[in-house]
Parts: sequence; C-alpha cells; structure tokens
Amino acid sequence: MNEAKNAMFDQRNSGADAEVNRRDFLNQITIGALGVAGFGSVAVTYQYFSPNVLFEPATQFRAGRPDLYPVHSVTYLQDQQVYIVRMPEGFYAISAVCTHLGCITQWKEEAQMIACPCHGSKFKPDGVKIEGPAPRPLPHFALSLTADGELLVNKLQNVKNTQVLKV
Ligand code: FES
Repeated sequence: MNEAKNAMFDQRNSGADAEVNRRDFLNQITIGALGVAGFGSVAVTYQYFSPNVLFEPATQFRAGRPDLYPVHSVTYLQDQQVYIVRMPEGFYAISAVCTHLGCITQWKEEAQMIACPCHGSKFKPDGVKIEGPAPRPLPHFALSLTADGELLVNKLQNVKNTQVLKV
C-alpha cells in the first residue's frame, strides 16, 4: 500500500517538474523573441540615424613608381577603374569606363585593344575608338609625378589624348 502511495507521489512530482520545465521553456522562448525584436529595432534605428553617404574612390591617387610599368604595357587599376599605359613616348592614364553606357572595359592583351563587354565597343590602347556604339574615345586623365617620384593621376582633370608624361 505504501509503495502505491509513493508511486502516486512520484507521478505528481514529475508532473510538477514537467510543468515547471514547460513554463521555463516558454519563458526562454519569450525572452528570446523579445531579444530578437529588440536587436532588430536597434539595428533599424542605427541604420535610420547613420548618414546616407556614398563613398567614392579618391579623384586623385598615386599609381606607384614609373618603373613598375614596363614599356608597351597597359595596366588596369581595378579600384580606380583606370588604365596606366606606358609606351616608348611616355605615360598616359585612361578611364576604363566606356563612353557608351558606362560599362567597365577590359584590356585584351592578345588583341592589343580595350574592349567593352556590354555592346562591343573597341578602343586602341590610347583610348581611340576602333568600332562599336561608343560615341567618344576613352578620356585621358592628367598625369604627373609627385615630389618623391610616383605617378599621380587626377581623375577630375581631362587632358588631350596626345599629352603624355615623359619620365
Ligand atoms: S557600354 Fe560599352 S559599348 Fe555599350
């Protein structure tokens, strides 16, 4: 008889434990949901108050020492979207942005030309258009030497495509 009472007591006790565990579980779910909602609202508030600024690459940049560029080379500087071209007569810097609709062109070493992947415009290494819908040649940027002997490209200043930097 005593054994039967103990068994009933154990059963009630385990039911109470299960209820407490269920309550704890629901509390944890509630706290978790509130945490996620709180984090979301903090993130949205931070985004709302942070300035809506577009960071663009600098308009003037150093392109390194001239001896980095072999004669007869076209080097694409991806982060500036500029080609540094070195020919026997000197250096020039050309925009890599196509003058048709603004796609980024690619230097084709094997064909010795700059090609636009969007609508097929093609340019000579000096930016002069060969064919395609581009209305103008690729613009040349002002190029000079810094006091410590590095190439300095000014993307705000366009120059004639006959102007070269002799080093
Ligand atoms: S954007 Fe280059 S050809 Fe159209």
